[in-house]
Amino acid sequence: TAPREAAGLTVVITAGPTREPLDPVRYLSNHSSGKMGFALAAAAAALGARVLLISGPVALPTPAGVERHDVESAREMHDAAHRLARGCDLFIGCAAVADYRAETPAEHKLKKREGEHTLTLRLVKNPDIIASIAARDDRPYVVGFAAETRDLEAYARDKLARKGLDMVVANDVSRAGLGFGADDNAALLVWRDADGTDQRSLPPQPKSQLALAVVRQALARLRA
Ligand code: C5P
Repeated sequence: TAPREAAGLTVVITAGPTREPLDPVRYLSNHSSGKMGFALAAAAAALGARVLLISGPVALPTPAGVERHDVESAREMHDAAHRLARGCDLFIGCAAVADYRAETPAEHKLKKREGEHTLTLRLVKNPDIIASIAARDDRPYVVGFAAETRDLEAYARDKLARKGLDMVVANDVSRAGLGFGADDNAALLVWRDADGTDQRSLPPQPKSQLALAVVRQALARLRA
């Protein structure tokens, strides 16, 4: 049998939401299902790569042949990403990382206060995981995701430049039945090249198929 496309390569993938504690029983998070990131992990493993999947809290089984590392907060995901990405060939940031966390999570459960109509939470910015991976001296090929509702290409190119990425997978989350929580997705892939015109549009299809197309395109670019 022919050697598989990704044999000998190590791929690190972040997936799912992060959970930012407010107190011992509450957190800030989002609706990311983790499906796309897990589909990418399954695809890369099927192509023969060694796959390290860093996952926030999701209700999904670990794909066959994938080494899974569970985390909760953005800072835990950041630390795991830097530890595991050392020497890897491809890093795909698919996680929906919380942009902010509570500055100081309460040590004890926050109590409802009589007579006060408002509660103020002070939030601080989380680290940008993918940008910090892309800034490393030993950087792998770095692929990011962008969920947009309009002007996909412009926002994707902006993200590519601003975060120092090699490729951006932009999906239109305004389209019914696609994106967040759905089983299907469509995407526009843009990557860094001499004249800034290289891109490929992937039509709506199951996330498993889309994941394979994304991983294949990334492998082709990183070898180019
Ligand atoms: O800036 P925005 O959240 O739109 O960028 C999305 C991309 O950046 C995704 O690839 C996501 O995984 C990554 N990201 C990250 N760390 C953050 C925020 C986003 O790695 N703190």
